[in-house]
Amino acid sequence: MYYEPGEGAGHKAAGLPHSPFTAIVGPRPIGWISTQDREGRVNLAPFSYFNGVCSAPPMVIFASNGNHGREGQPGPAIKDTLANVRETGEFVVNLATWELREQMNLSSAPAPRGVDEFEFAGLAKAASNAVKPPRVAASPVHLECKLVQVVELPAHEASNTLNNLVIGRVVGIHVRDDLIDNGRVSIAKVRPLLRLGAFDYGFIESVFEIKRPKWPLDGKAS
Ligand SMILES: Cc1cc2nc3c(=O)[nH]c(=O)nc-3n(C[C@H](O)[C@H](O)[C@H](O)COP(=O)(O)O)c2cc1C
Repeated sequence: MYYEPGEGAGHKAAGLPHSPFTAIVGPRPIGWISTQDREGRVNLAPFSYFNGVCSAPPMVIFASNGNHGREGQPGPAIKDTLANVRETGEFVVNLATWELREQMNLSSAPAPRGVDEFEFAGLAKAASNAVKPPRVAASPVHLECKLVQVVELPAHEASNTLNNLVIGRVVGIHVRDDLIDNGRVSIAKVRPLLRLGAFDYGFIESVFEIKRPKWPLDGKAS
């Protein structure tokens, strides 16, 4: 089949209730992001348009899209996470795991600015080292980040949406000690959640290894 996404609903015209785009570009890791506004009010929300983009120095990206549950109301409303990152320049990425799936999902509710999602999701906080926003204590891995840049992306003109790409530099990394096996992080032990299309998720439970080729290839080229 072929369809053009157009202003967003092209998949519906093609007879598909859910956009295939998020199923195709996946699985995606989930950046479960804690922030604070300049008054110190804490916020937590998941973002699956999230990834690492550089190792030296380590950097991550996430995209804040849409209009904070205000469809049909006048004027775009940016998400609390983006507003806080713009105000304070700091955020923490908490690893969203299989055990924390319900709390992660609860924290995505479009609560008004200033409402602390840690509280209604029943999550304890742990203090961070290099930044002010707290960490999700039950999460086994955290990346403490400082804002590098916010890049404004195109958005549909007809709707009140905003798309912004946040780039952050990782300045502190926490890994729970029992996850380190022979000097490597055994990530499959904590089963990180992966976002797929529609309402689907996956998780990592096994890994395999492939070493990169050297040049010249093993007797096959010169
Ligand atoms: C698994 C998952 C992934 C999500 N990914 C994104 C995303 O990549 N970008 C986005 O803008 N919203 C995403 N959302 C929706 C936000 O979490 C939601 O809009 C939330 O209310 C934003 O909170 P905030 O206003 O406190 O920042 C996702 C929700 C879930 C459950």
